[in-house]
Amino acid sequence: MKILVFTEKPFAPAAVEAISNVVNASGNDLEVVEKGSREDLLNAVKDANGLIVRSDVIDDAVMNAAPELKVIVRAGAGYDNIDLAAATKHGICVMNTPGQNSNAVAELVFGMIVMMCRNKYNGKSGSELKGKSLGIYAFGQVGRNVARIAKGFNMNIEALDVFVPDEVIEAEGVKPLHDVNELFSQNDFVSLHIPATPQTKHSIGYDLVMKMPKGGVLINTARKEIIDEPGLIRALEERPDLRYISDIKPDTAEEFEKKFADRVFFTPKKMGAQTAEANFNAGVAAAEQAIAYLKDGWNRFQVNK
Ligand code: 3PG
Repeated sequence: MKILVFTEKPFAPAAVEAISNVVNASGNDLEVVEKGSREDLLNAVKDANGLIVRSDVIDDAVMNAAPELKVIVRAGAGYDNIDLAAATKHGICVMNTPGQNSNAVAELVFGMIVMMCRNKYNGKSGSELKGKSLGIYAFGQVGRNVARIAKGFNMNIEALDVFVPDEVIEAEGVKPLHDVNELFSQNDFVSLHIPATPQTKHSIGYDLVMKMPKGGVLINTARKEIIDEPGLIRALEERPDLRYISDIKPDTAEEFEKKFADRVFFTPKKMGAQTAEANFNAGVAAAEQAIAYLKDGWNRFQVNK
């Protein structure tokens, strides 16, 4: 059977080699298309039985072009790029690879926080993280890794996640919260890890951000869609002490950068999962999951049940 790896943003070469070894050892065939166009995708899926992607958009039209497709594995956490209803309609199993790239994202959170707190290393005196408070919005795999690292900085940590019992959050030495207003009003740093869903889209804007204490820093390594950009711009205009860091360039990045040059930072391309280790772990897990599904229907991480 053919497994297609289609990634607009390529995996590290070592990850591709490892995926290739895993697929070859299973007796399946592998095709890798990197930096391909939509047309390339529509061509390559024609005879694919399994498809491995990252943030690449997989919609009904792609599935229509793929009559043999049985399984799509998103090598990563968020699957908002895949039309789950269409997949279910086509009888295709969709899985993600939870936890495989979460440390990489969490490390980037702190890389960007330190950079911002040291004024992008411009020579002016900055500030430290020790003793400051961090609010983690969603305590999934990334949120937990963020908490683990924050402890090393001696930060006070709180987290809000309606799907995670208090005991689980407390077991990590983190104070559970139940009100998003508290998360924003009580923390010097708020790190966002919620998925993009109809409920969360544009949910972080003026009202919440204005609640942040003096000097507050908002960090977004989740999805750009969760931000209400005009609302955040308004808050940054009214509060010259606030700062915003994001691993996903906002749609209105130019306006942010023009108005708040020193107070915002955006990676040019989403970099959270872009480490050799995360690429390797997520890529190999995706290949193993696709193979296991094609072999005997293994579907532990199916997200379109
Ligand atoms: C994820 O959801 O796993 C991360 O956002 C990483 O996405 P990427 O694989 O497109 O870099």
